[in-house]
Amino acid sequence: MIKGEDTFKKIISHSKEYGFIFPSSEIYDGLSAVYDYGQNGALLKNNIKDYWWRSMVQFHENIVGLDSAIFMHPTVWKASGHVDAFNDPLIDNKDSKKRYRADVLIEDHLEKIKEKINKEVEKAAKRFGDSFDEAMFRQTNPRVVENQQKIEDITSRFVSALEENRLTDIKSLIEELGIVCPVSGSRNWTEVRQFNLMFSTQMGSLSEDASQIFLRPETAQGIFVNYLNVQKTGRMKLPFGIAQIGKAFRNEIVARQFIFRMREFEQMEMQFFVKPGQEKEWYDYWKQERLRWHLALGIPAEKYRFHDHDKLAHYANAAADIEFEFPFGFKELEGIHSRTDFDLNAHQQYSGKKLQYFDPETNESYVPYVVETSIGLDRTFLAVLSHAYKEEKLPDGSERVVLSIPPLLAPIKVAVLPLVKKDGMPEKAREIFDSLKYDYMCQYDEKDAIGRRYRRQDAIGTPYCVTIDHQTLEDNTVTIRERDSMQQDRIAIDHIARIVGQRIDIRPNKNQ
Ligand code: GAP
Repeated sequence: MIKGEDTFKKIISHSKEYGFIFPSSEIYDGLSAVYDYGQNGALLKNNIKDYWWRSMVQFHENIVGLDSAIFMHPTVWKASGHVDAFNDPLIDNKDSKKRYRADVLIEDHLEKIKEKINKEVEKAAKRFGDSFDEAMFRQTNPRVVENQQKIEDITSRFVSALEENRLTDIKSLIEELGIVCPVSGSRNWTEVRQFNLMFSTQMGSLSEDASQIFLRPETAQGIFVNYLNVQKTGRMKLPFGIAQIGKAFRNEIVARQFIFRMREFEQMEMQFFVKPGQEKEWYDYWKQERLRWHLALGIPAEKYRFHDHDKLAHYANAAADIEFEFPFGFKELEGIHSRTDFDLNAHQQYSGKKLQYFDPETNESYVPYVVETSIGLDRTFLAVLSHAYKEEKLPDGSERVVLSIPPLLAPIKVAVLPLVKKDGMPEKAREIFDSLKYDYMCQYDEKDAIGRRYRRQDAIGTPYCVTIDHQTLEDNTVTIRERDSMQQDRIAIDHIARIVGQRIDIRPNKNQ
């Protein structure tokens, strides 16, 4: 097993053991790709939401918030294209009865060829040492060139078959490439079929009145249909944004990798409405701005990369993902899409209502263009958690598991710990707890030896432990222990709040 998979398993079991994430309905053996957030998970999730909301809505005077309903008129999803085009191509293996996304089978096959190329390059790099010219090697080594050509041929056939919905060609490609079912090892495949990812339900108590409605697969459409409401009542002038956090639902077939791909998840989306022609400039702006948001958490820059899309969705004229290096490799964390006027135009057409902007500077009316930033809350949670998880060997030979969660996001900011359960220390500790709790999420803990209590707080990522000892009762000082360095300092009780506050301040120039 490669190290990343091993770490990932540990992160999953740690999340459960320390109250971050539980499988949904676990006493009934769970529900596939649905998860519940426990006592620490709910706090971490709320802190991520708060960081996003404040960065978007509070720090930008031209972005406002929205909380639209999950249920929407069914025609919304016709207009948005989700009824007709929000599909995955599926294929079943007749022997194992397992269902797969046909595109994922082909992508995995391409990935294997890429790995072969990378191995050749690594081998050659070792052989030639400092004089190795990787670019030249990739252009001239016959095996690499042959495999690169294979990748290009397969990709071009695969992309055109997908774009033109030629499902029989996709099946032929799977057969030709000799792709086998990972479970049965056989090539006994069914035809490829399109499968819509939206969940549907009925609204209305009588079946004859019942109308099929959908659980929203993205929050964005709630923003589009409220564009004019917000613009008019908020007297918003272009460019301006509407931000929203909320649940989305997708009937994912290949639901794996824990909370990376769920059937019920949360999105944090912002639609930025701009004058047509200015979308490219704003697209570039939001790409950089969103990356800055991630980096401000202190997670190293090499964990993130952009992936610019070559193949664009029908509504987009530019699109990029911010990818994060999860334990299972670089994968999409956030999308930035220049969506043109596609959505507002479609809603105008289907609703018969004008969704235009009157530009007071030019005295013209037009449909604005939209640049969207769309990030998965659960994926951000997983990114933060997987980066934070560390197993450390300490100088005294013992080991600890610590979650180095960015302090701003940590579920508990301060643990308040009386050294012993007597001599007035618990009372003093409660006093300190009560004075800090209005500003910070704190935890009081008096059970077990102090070392074990520190370990428990390390395991949930608490940046500060404050210990009340005999000296506290004499001079109103405590020890404050910092999670990552484990350094302990003696400080006045009055200074605790300031020290914690400085650590979670998100002002960009806080140290100047
Ligand atoms: N409105 C645009 C939109 O929904 P998307 O790329 O389909 O775009 C945006 O989704 C983000 O939502 C993704 O980058 C990802 O972080 C998150 N996301 C999408 N599907 C998800 C799933 N099944 N489970 C968890 N997060 C998901």
